[in-house]
Amino acid sequence: MASGGRRVWIYFYNRGNGANLFFGVGQPTGSISPGTLAGEIMMTIPFNSLMKWYLDFELPDHFLEQLPEGRLSDEADRFICRTLGLMKEAGFSAFDVTPLMVRQLTAIVPHYLPSSWNGKIPPLTAPGRHRKLDGYIKKSLPKESRKKRVLLDIGCGIPPLTTVDSAEMLSGWKIIGVDSAFAEFILYDSEENYGCFSPAGEILYLQSNLWHGSRFYSDNPESARSHFSQLFQALRAELAPPAAAKKSTSVEKEGNRLIHNHIADFESDNVQFLKADIRELKIPLVDAARCMNVLIYHPGDARKQVRAAMTNLLEKDGLLMVGTNNLFGLSCRYTVYQRDEKNLRPREFSFSLDNLRPHDILPWYALQEDDEEVLCLARLTRLIRSDRSFWNRFQRRVDRLLADASIYHRDTNGFLKLVEGDSAVSPTSLQQRVESIWKQLDEEGYTHEVAALLQSAGLHRWVNCVGDIAVIPGAHLRKVLARQS
Ligand SMILES: C[S@@+](CC[C@H](N)C(=O)[O-])C[C@H]1O[C@@H](n2cnc3c(N)ncnc32)[C@H](O)[C@@H]1O
Repeated sequence: MASGGRRVWIYFYNRGNGANLFFGVGQPTGSISPGTLAGEIMMTIPFNSLMKWYLDFELPDHFLEQLPEGRLSDEADRFICRTLGLMKEAGFSAFDVTPLMVRQLTAIVPHYLPSSWNGKIPPLTAPGRHRKLDGYIKKSLPKESRKKRVLLDIGCGIPPLTTVDSAEMLSGWKIIGVDSAFAEFILYDSEENYGCFSPAGEILYLQSNLWHGSRFYSDNPESARSHFSQLFQALRAELAPPAAAKKSTSVEKEGNRLIHNHIADFESDNVQFLKADIRELKIPLVDAARCMNVLIYHPGDARKQVRAAMTNLLEKDGLLMVGTNNLFGLSCRYTVYQRDEKNLRPREFSFSLDNLRPHDILPWYALQEDDEEVLCLARLTRLIRSDRSFWNRFQRRVDRLLADASIYHRDTNGFLKLVEGDSAVSPTSLQQRVESIWKQLDEEGYTHEVAALLQSAGLHRWVNCVGDIAVIPGAHLRKVLARQS
């Protein structure tokens, strides 16, 4: 059995008088450190010891079968410690850990971190991911008769599938997708895995087919790289020169397609793409901007710069939505800002109900130590979980629905187990079943119940226009949540 040993950073803190040292595993975030950092050492400990450290219990064998052997990058090991630290912050229990979470933490996410791609941010996106957020914009900013409204999709990725979704959802709007890096060449293999290439044939990024749940890349990165390099060389030699500068060209052989300037394929009368860092973009003012799954990659200073850039690009009363969600749209958390005469004002921090009992690690997905939104969600979750009478009833209901949908049942020790076994489950069908459970829980009134519970804790809260739980960000929220930690 693999122990999946992970390198952890053990931080020694000094409470101020020099005598009273104590230590914490993982990251020296504000939530852990009450004193000055006195030193750090790094050591390797088994994955299950980390579980016990953070979540109080070791996981049974069926979770550990999927642990990878060998070393992951420093970034991946830090990511694992950070995620477990945030789960602890959220009051999460080892008994709510799913096999998918362990696989994502140790075997999937490590391959999609920037350090696996020479520090570049993956352009990964998925159709339907932001449909709910498009709905928010549509309801908040009705069509204007005077002029066409404009939505800026910041860090739209390639292929820019969510930008195209927005054009469908927001008819009558103009949509501008902006990204600092659109790869010049995209190659889809016959299984619809895809790769991004530079003109020199360097692999910039590889992505397994999400819908088939292919583990093509994460199972064997070296063979995936070699397969794609060979396909690129073979197809590149047959690709005709572009007919016009702004058009795409492509070549297809045995179901594999190489496309030059693929981004042009997604342009239309009302959809335009610009290659630029948002901090340097100069365009006429827009009505709304969406910046999803982008700022999690940036440290605090860069996040501030993006918000400042957006203030200068938004019309008065214009909206900016910034946040993170799962590829399939679940586990959504976001802040909505509105521009006044001069500044961006945070108007709500919102999250979807499913964050409270997720089946993946997205509610704690953070790549920076100082990600305010992830910490805010973790502390709100802890606050909600601390109402034991609500929480126990909610847990029983979620467990019942998961079992009825033949997704998870509890083993004799109370740990979650996939009914069908890990390898038999198609991610798309799993996701659809999970989605319908959360829809049902919402219909049963749990979203409103959680909002009411936050009100009893002294927070101004509401259920927003797309059915998510919203609170007002700012000093009062921070004060109430600080009492939780
Ligand atoms: C993970 S993708 C997110 C795609 C899409 N927004 C979504 O949510 O599905 C992140 C993208 O943000 C882009 N990006 C990161 N920082 C940026 C910046 N400062 N300006 C423009 N694009 C940026 C990256 O190049 C990458 O393609």
